[in-house]
Amino acid sequence: MEGIIIYGSRYGHASAYARMLSAQVGFPVVRCGKSVPLADAATVVYIGSLYAGGVVGLVRTFRRYTPRPGQRVFVVTVGISDPADETNVANICSSVRRQLPFWQDGKVRLFHLRGGIDYGRLSFIHKTMMWMLYRSLRKKEAGSLSQEDRLFMELYGCNVDFTDHAALAPLVCELWAGSAL
Ligand SMILES: Cc1cc2nc3c(=O)[nH]c(=O)nc-3n(C[C@H](O)[C@H](O)[C@H](O)COP(=O)(O)O)c2cc1C
Repeated sequence: MEGIIIYGSRYGHASAYARMLSAQVGFPVVRCGKSVPLADAATVVYIGSLYAGGVVGLVRTFRRYTPRPGQRVFVVTVGISDPADETNVANICSSVRRQLPFWQDGKVRLFHLRGGIDYGRLSFIHKTMMWMLYRSLRKKEAGSLSQEDRLFMELYGCNVDFTDHAALAPLVCELWAGSAL
């Protein structure tokens, strides 16, 4: 198999990206949790949304798997924070590193995409988590808030969607560059 796309998503943003990518590169799409023949794929793309730094399904998917030599692994995070901000990217990278037992710098390619949030659709637990975060951020000095903190406060209670088809282009280029697609 040339490649496979696995996704972990709660409200559909990461799965939407997985389908968009599949339409462009032709890899089949599988939801995390299904049994996936990881070793059969020359390229594995994992697309997962971020919840408090954790990537949905990532740990479970790769718990008993170490990529074989030559196999390409791409991890794509989908979150609300802005991937143009270097601090956000550094935080996401160190968090992903901790979640992958076989992590070696340069072996796994990381990409970051923006999803969205609709407070009206959040589960009780997720609403509570966001409320607790909002409450703790409100107590902080304005000057000590990071760009990500300010964004979370600004978007609290809102319905926003930053999903951008064009943001997949660098990933698609890399997938094309290293295979016979
Ligand atoms: C409880 C909670 C925690 C979140 N934590 C993060 C986070 O750490 N970093 C981030 O960028 N986005 C975070 N988000 C935003 C989600 O990653 C974003 O809504 C994403 O698009 C959801 O994708 P999904 O619909 O595929 O699950 C959080 C959202 C919720 C509700």
